[in-house]
Amino acid sequence: MKVSETAQGVHLRIEGLNKTFGNQRVLQGVDLDIPAGQFVAVVGRSGCGKSTLLRLIAGLDAPSEGSIRSDDTEVTGIRDNTRMLFQDARLLPWKRVEANVKIGVKAGSDRERVLNVLRQVGLEEKAGEWPGVLSGGQRQRIALARALVSEPGLLLLDEPLGALDALTRIDMQDLIERLWDERKFTTILVTHDVSEAVALADRVILIERGQIKLDIAITLDRPRERDADFAYFEKLILDRILERDEHELRSKKELSYSI
Ligand SMILES: Nc1ncnc2c1ncn2[C@@H]1O[C@H](COP(=O)(O)OP(=O)(O)OP(=O)(O)O)[C@@H](O)[C@H]1O
Ligand SMILES: [Mg+2]
Repeated sequence: MKVSETAQGVHLRIEGLNKTFGNQRVLQGVDLDIPAGQFVAVVGRSGCGKSTLLRLIAGLDAPSEGSIRSDDTEVTGIRDNTRMLFQDARLLPWKRVEANVKIGVKAGSDRERVLNVLRQVGLEEKAGEWPGVLSGGQRQRIALARALVSEPGLLLLDEPLGALDALTRIDMQDLIERLWDERKFTTILVTHDVSEAVALADRVILIERGQIKLDIAITLDRPRERDADFAYFEKLILDRILERDEHELRSKKELSYSI
């Protein structure tokens, strides 16, 4: 596990977390302890509850039962030290790039800070542009700059690379890993891509029907090579996801035989 001694990240402690919408139980008994500075990836089938978990951690929604504590403070709403990134960049089209990033910090913050974070995502020269003229990858980098300009202790990523082409995606993965490595904010990345999870995370969590079904440490050195050890972790996680499918298929067959 790679957690820096100088970690800036928050320590998250989730206990007995349940979330229901009407009579649908979306999260059931989730317990999770995430040390400061850890990079966690959350994988699982569509609809298993990944975004719901992230929204609860962000304080955008409230648990039905259980608790979420961030550095020993109960999460009761959105907080300054937490930032979230979504699949679409959500930039304001009527503000230029620099002003979009500035939204991430308190009024009165110096311009140098905004330009510095733009430099870190490699887009300082786009400071005066409108979001509309940027590519999808560039827009996501601006959204990342806006999220990081306030130096958050917790970064929540809900499939931020899902809409990008393969090469841009790899560039973005490298950028996220580099910035995390420098600053050590606690990170939770939701992704459908098992390979991306193994490439970036210290720990991968698989959610199945609102419950944690797998929680494994990725003990590979960084930067990660896509070698046999990498493939071992990928297969381990994929097999566990597919196991459920086989199981369901079998029980469906048994059901049809018994009819
Ligand atoms: N605000 C809401 N009201 C009612 N049901 C909701 C709400 N938010 C989520 N759900 C339901 O909770 C379940 C889990 O949704 P969630 O968005 O967490 O899934 P997910 O794992 O992120 O899926 P995906 O991979 O497709 O993004 C779904 O059945 C969804 O319809
Ligand atoms: Mg989702």
